[in-house]
Amino acid sequence: MFFKQFFSTSACQHTKAWMIKHVSDPYVRRSVKENYRARSAFKLIEINDMYQFLQPGHTVIDMGAAPGAWSQVLVKQVNARVEKQKKITSTNEFVHRTNPDLKCGTVIALDRSPIFEIPGVHIIDNWNLTADTTSDCNKRLQALLKRLKIEQVDGVLSDMCPNVTGCKAIDQSAIAALQHQAFDFARRLLKPNGYFLCKLFQGHEVFQDLRPLLESLFGAVHVIKPSSSRSESSELYLLALEYRPDATNRPTNASDNQNENTRIETNRHEIERLINEARRVRTKNKDK
Ligand SMILES: C[S@@+](CC[C@H](N)C(=O)[O-])C[C@H]1O[C@@H](n2cnc3c(N)ncnc32)[C@H](O)[C@@H]1O
Repeated sequence: MFFKQFFSTSACQHTKAWMIKHVSDPYVRRSVKENYRARSAFKLIEINDMYQFLQPGHTVIDMGAAPGAWSQVLVKQVNARVEKQKKITSTNEFVHRTNPDLKCGTVIALDRSPIFEIPGVHIIDNWNLTADTTSDCNKRLQALLKRLKIEQVDGVLSDMCPNVTGCKAIDQSAIAALQHQAFDFARRLLKPNGYFLCKLFQGHEVFQDLRPLLESLFGAVHVIKPSSSRSESSELYLLALEYRPDATNRPTNASDNQNENTRIETNRHEIERLINEARRVRTKNKDK
């Protein structure tokens, strides 16, 4: 009786429909077959096939990396050094084999959620982009960069996505604010000619805010909707290539750093405001 009632609820019908759609998705099937942790791997593969920016020997930071599909792609593309050639038995994933004839690269994966080990990837989980620069997670990141002797990186990728509310305007603003902060983070580390890739939701913010900023600082900016991105999703990617740092756009001295920190702090408050707004909308919708 209980089960009959339970399975006839609209929530359950919705879950069932989602499951059927999920398992019949060709990219989900491919990700299982090719041992990727998520179908999102194919978005990065597709974007890189178009512009070939990931190269052996590159140092790349993958922000919002959990569960790790983009990092799995990166390990292969940059030919990351893998110390132990072992198979991860718990996930049945095969480990990338470093090609000794190519330059070796480095992949750093950051996320606020846990990321299960990926050989060849330096993982810092429990890391939050909006955390204070003096926070424990940022200290762990600084210590890692120091240990690896990394001062600059070739690329920063951000597939980060805040929890969506379903309210388009709020979701667009929240992700735009987050990616703005991701770029503030990236520009401190990017080498000249470096690249920045981030996810956004289609909407006015994309074109009025982050895109013109990237266009002023990079040689080329591409707006991409990979075919592996679900057609009903408004997500798209901005790929900025050929970073052109100059005295006016990279924080160079203490006062510039101070201005930069103030801007990041303002951005952090804006993200917190949007998250609170999102919570309020969610609670209101639940109460209806
Ligand atoms: C769409 S998933 C990324 C999928 C990943 N690219 C992959 O291929 O496996 C978005 C991730 O962004 C992370 N995220 C969202 N906001 C974040 C923040 N402020 N700091 C760190 N990570 C964040 C989430 O925890 C989530 O794991």
